[in-house]
Amino acid sequence: MNNKWIAPSILSSNFSKLGEEVRSVLTAGADIIHFDVMDNHYVPNLTIGSLVCKSLRDDGIDCFIDVHLMCSPVDNLIDQFADAGANMITFHPEATHHVDRTIQKIKDLGCQAGLVLNPATPISNLDCILEKLDIVLLMSVNPGFGGQSFIESVLPKIELVRKKIDHLGLETRLEVDGGINLNTIKSVSDAGADTFVMGSAIFHADDYKDVISKAKALIN
Ligand code: DX5
Ligand code: ZN
Repeated sequence: MNNKWIAPSILSSNFSKLGEEVRSVLTAGADIIHFDVMDNHYVPNLTIGSLVCKSLRDDGIDCFIDVHLMCSPVDNLIDQFADAGANMITFHPEATHHVDRTIQKIKDLGCQAGLVLNPATPISNLDCILEKLDIVLLMSVNPGFGGQSFIESVLPKIELVRKKIDHLGLETRLEVDGGINLNTIKSVSDAGADTFVMGSAIFHADDYKDVISKAKALIN
């Protein structure tokens, strides 16, 4: 099992002071930053693009940035986010015609690559590609919005993917995204996740450090 990472999703942050928000969660103990990109086409919401990622880099933010593309098509955006300083890029298999080609493209541009499975997307999507992935991201809400409730039926899916990763002896990370808070994080960790996206649970709290410390105590 990899070391465990808390990944605040900036979707729930105050965008009018984004740089300050990112610095605050990093100081509070965040391991990486989760960057949600929505296109009002693949998902019914519109958020931020690569220019915002580049502004964070230009402002001196040098943490690991995990870009979650909820967009279709994806290939053109991969060039933009790799140029903008993304460290990892994940996308949904339903959003591209050629999953293997898109994974290869992300890696060729020097980023880590991952596939995202929605709650109803079967794990058979990993069958011919798992060895090539740096991360698998399992959605525990339907993508598109922060602040939704955790879908409990994803827990056995996390266990199954953990078994597959371990069976193959891979270092692939296992990330879970949606509805993770201090009440749900322990079950996600016990099921085998090592990377925990937390949006509203952190950014809607008064004290980021308090939430991140408590989250870490629950998973370690
Ligand atoms: C949902 C996004 C999530 C979202 C999580 O489509 O991919 O990353 O920001 O937010 P919470 O933690 O509030 O469910
Ligand atoms: Zn996300």
